[in-house]
Amino acid sequence: MAILVTGGAGYIGSHTCVELLNAGYEIIVLDNFSNSSPESLNRVKELTNKNFKTYNIDLLDKVNVEKVFLENNIESVIHFAGLKAVGESVEIPVHYYHNNITGTLILIDIMQKYNVFNIVFSSSATVYGAPKQVPISEDFSLSATNPYGRSKLIIEEILNDVYISNNNWSIALLRYFNPIGAHESGRIGENPNGIPNNLMPFITQVSIGKLQELKVFGSDYSTPDGTGVRDYIHVVDLAHGHLKALEKIMTRSGVEAYNLGTGKGYSVLEMVAAFEKASNRKIPYSIGPRRTGDIGECFADPSKAERELGWKAEKGIEEMCIDSWRWQSQNPDGFQKDKNSIAHVLV
Ligand code: WQD
Repeated sequence: MAILVTGGAGYIGSHTCVELLNAGYEIIVLDNFSNSSPESLNRVKELTNKNFKTYNIDLLDKVNVEKVFLENNIESVIHFAGLKAVGESVEIPVHYYHNNITGTLILIDIMQKYNVFNIVFSSSATVYGAPKQVPISEDFSLSATNPYGRSKLIIEEILNDVYISNNNWSIALLRYFNPIGAHESGRIGENPNGIPNNLMPFITQVSIGKLQELKVFGSDYSTPDGTGVRDYIHVVDLAHGHLKALEKIMTRSGVEAYNLGTGKGYSVLEMVAAFEKASNRKIPYSIGPRRTGDIGECFADPSKAERELGWKAEKGIEEMCIDSWRWQSQNPDGFQKDKNSIAHVLV
């Protein structure tokens, strides 16, 4: 019985594939490589010394998605595949809704047809919108402030309705806070297309001279140093959270949401200082205006995941920065130079 990992070539997907393989699971990766590189899967194979099938398929391609279920004995699905740039989602909302929601509907439809009822869904803390207080727990009210976040919220609602229609479903909704860091080997890591939207990849590209300076988006928030506070979580801790959620959904039916965060917030300037210490590189920055849609403070209450999944983030900010630095300094062009590498892909 195999675990189907949609979007398995992506940042969080590839790190989760490493942990799944190391834990002895058989996996199958489905990815359209629109926002990832086949090279990341070559490195997953290198790191684990394990092989697995990869299907170069778009979830909107219903015929070929069904082919994956016809050709394989799938027990559960970890569903990462989706577009995730907040700013871009505001510019092209229909593309985001079609890609993220229609793609998920096709996946669910085929899972149901083949009696596959276990799914771990890659959701996001962005479904909390602008929380009234912190730390954030799973019973907080949900709202969206952009089409990306709204697509995640809609998919969570869809999965709740799917369970109500058929109680065989077993569903975990994992709400990520701010994933950063990389595998300790430095062989896989975050590989954003173009100029990074997110803080850490922007900092790492400044550290290797690809970008000149960091623009700090606002210093007038009601936080200790005025800059935005977020709950940064090591991507390997996040990957472990997926394995714990997978174990959980195999033992019970139902739908449950879990915050995957550390429960501790760091400001932008604290992150800059931590990265400078880890990398021994100066990160030049200047203070600019707030970014539209940003909130001042956001961090998790991760106690439900600890209680119900037996999962807790273990890596601290120093390790997150050291691992981010190692990945970027060893791969200044990400997987780019290997962009043409050929993974063993089936379709
Ligand atoms: C972090 C902090 C910025 C860049 C987003 C998505 C969320 C999730 C994670 C997908 C904020 C500040 C950033 C820069 C800066 N993605 N910053 N200069 O906005 O918390 O969350 O990514 O699931 O859904 O919303 O992450 O890394 O963009 O920003 O000052 O060049 O760094 O203002 O305070 P964010 P981020």
